[in-house]
Amino acid sequence: MNASSPSPAQNQAATATLYGGVTNRRVTVRDLATAKQRGEKWSMLTAYDALTAGVFDEAGTPVLLVGDSAGNCHLGYETTVPVTMDQMVMMSAAVVRGTKRAMIVADLPFGSYQESPAQAMHNAARLMKEAGVGAVKLEGGERSARSIELLVEAGVPVMAHIGLTPQSVHALGGYPVQGRGDEAAHRLLRDAKAVQQAGAFAVVLEAVPAELAAQVTEQLAIPTVGIGAGADTDAQVLVWTDFAGMTAGRVPKFVKQYADLRSVLGRAAREFAEDVRGGSFPAPEHTFH
Ligand code: KIV
Repeated sequence: MNASSPSPAQNQAATATLYGGVTNRRVTVRDLATAKQRGEKWSMLTAYDALTAGVFDEAGTPVLLVGDSAGNCHLGYETTVPVTMDQMVMMSAAVVRGTKRAMIVADLPFGSYQESPAQAMHNAARLMKEAGVGAVKLEGGERSARSIELLVEAGVPVMAHIGLTPQSVHALGGYPVQGRGDEAAHRLLRDAKAVQQAGAFAVVLEAVPAELAAQVTEQLAIPTVGIGAGADTDAQVLVWTDFAGMTAGRVPKFVKQYADLRSVLGRAAREFAEDVRGGSFPAPEHTFH
């Protein structure tokens, strides 16, 4: 098979829609590229375990991100900074095992790629070989372009992440909106073009003004994935614990809560405790003789 005679799977990639289309194989970077060409928008959710990932996969979510947001949303840290490669490999492998169709993208955590392109390659290979993910994500625009180039040359699909980059929380002094003002907007555009030029197949735009995200989306050939970036990006990503109402306390302005799982689970746990204390559980139908 060569470039002039596409395989049946490649032909399907050119025509199948993300929703209601591809069902017998995993979503690929080609599917996402053709979705941009035909203007089909798509959703991405984070997942950190097989069970939750399986639910989102069955619901048809085309791309799942094993985000290092696991640090503050799943593992009990305050930020994403402490997350290790071993933790990413373990969670990513679980998400791959729990899914059949979604493309699984895994974050390279803080400290696993910033030293050199060679370090990025070493750790991206771990995520692909040990966990079986289909792509990796890393933060940074121009500053990460050399690493993206090396990974892509080596056959690793890379999703870039610019705008607010949470691994830099201590340098940024929090999680401020990025790209406000002419100079910052130009820098963001340069970052977006640099990661596209380096070969990234998509780019996350986090916490940037909607008008700027729309401009980036229009100027790039690769899909943009927005989070706090307005309605005009090609795709939208949410952290699953935020969108499902599992997060305790305040969630960021850009989050829409589609469920209230924290209340549902809390209520269930209180009812269970009451039943046990009152002696109504286990009932005869839950009992062996
Ligand atoms: O780690 C993560 O979940 C992310 C998303 C917020 C894009 O990077």
